[in-house]
Amino acid sequence: MNVGFIGLGIMGQPMSRHLLQAGFSLTVYNRTASKAQALIEMGAKLANSPAAVAAASKIIITMLPDTPEVEAVLFGENGVYEGLSAGKIVVDMSTISPEATAQFAARLREKQCELLDAPVSGGENGAMAGTLTIMVGGDEQAFQKCLPLFQAMGRNIVHLGANGNGQRTKLVNQVICALNILAMSEGLHLAERIGLDAEKVLQVVSSGAAGSWMLSNLAPRILQNDFQPGFMIKLQQKDLRLAMELIKTLGEDFPGTALTYSLFTKAVEAGLGEQGTQGLINIFKRA
Ligand SMILES: NC(=O)c1ccc[n+]([C@@H]2O[C@H](COP(=O)([O-])OP(=O)(O)OC[C@H]3O[C@@H](n4cnc5c(N)ncnc54)[C@H](OP(=O)(O)O)[C@@H]3O)[C@@H](O)[C@H]2O)c1
Repeated sequence: MNVGFIGLGIMGQPMSRHLLQAGFSLTVYNRTASKAQALIEMGAKLANSPAAVAAASKIIITMLPDTPEVEAVLFGENGVYEGLSAGKIVVDMSTISPEATAQFAARLREKQCELLDAPVSGGENGAMAGTLTIMVGGDEQAFQKCLPLFQAMGRNIVHLGANGNGQRTKLVNQVICALNILAMSEGLHLAERIGLDAEKVLQVVSSGAAGSWMLSNLAPRILQNDFQPGFMIKLQQKDLRLAMELIKTLGEDFPGTALTYSLFTKAVEAGLGEQGTQGLINIFKRA
């Protein structure tokens, strides 16, 4: 099957590699074309616009930072919309606004095309290993058609109902992640401030009740002073902004989300936006 992939960043590159390895015929587009080189060497074709990707593909995947970029790539000049014909499916695997997702889906239906929102969890490592968690919203039949693609990139794949519900589930996921990142950062900062051996603290607490994905995957990087991004602080802050927008509609307090949003915003304002999320600990060091 002809598949298109747009957005070959930290996540998009390894995800599209898995599609090629699973035998799909892949056409790719990236704003910075050089990032497609390794995939072309593996057999992918390079298109010169999102419209050209859509014209060449039955299913078109996008993996972009936020809502405005997805809107521009879908509906801007030379966008995906221009290359669509009836029966094609667009799968947006970025994390973006659930409301905008539903609007984009309605616009695509004018061309008898479906949109699935299919954001992911598992980070760069999950993308490289092909073990992502994938949370899908949208038409059931379209979901079934895309399942073999999802299975090439991920393991735990769940259909959650109508368009937007994939994104809403991802925002729940991100609230939980952000609070875990804060817990890890504050705990390690405390250990350091009271003069404990951080390596030994990590060794003992990560296998007890305090254990978490963050402690296992990100805390060792902090101890090695490695703040390279798997997942950038500015993207986690964007996800918390989207979660805050969702919460605002409820008229209720979600104090942990509000706190982590303010701390991730502080990190972005301190110039840490392109560090990995483990860099949140640096806001304590700079205080
Ligand atoms: N990294 C993670 O661990 C992770 C985990 C789960 C979900 N996510 C979500 O996945 C999405 C992608 O994240 P990422 O970490 O892969 O980000 P990234 O490395 O920054 O990649 C973003 C991609 O979008 C492209 N892009 C940016 N602005 C564009 C525009 N205006 N027009 C066209 N293309 C544009 C970039 O092209 P260039 O190469 O030209 O810059 C790049 O290919 C985000 O929504 C993020 O929240 C990330």
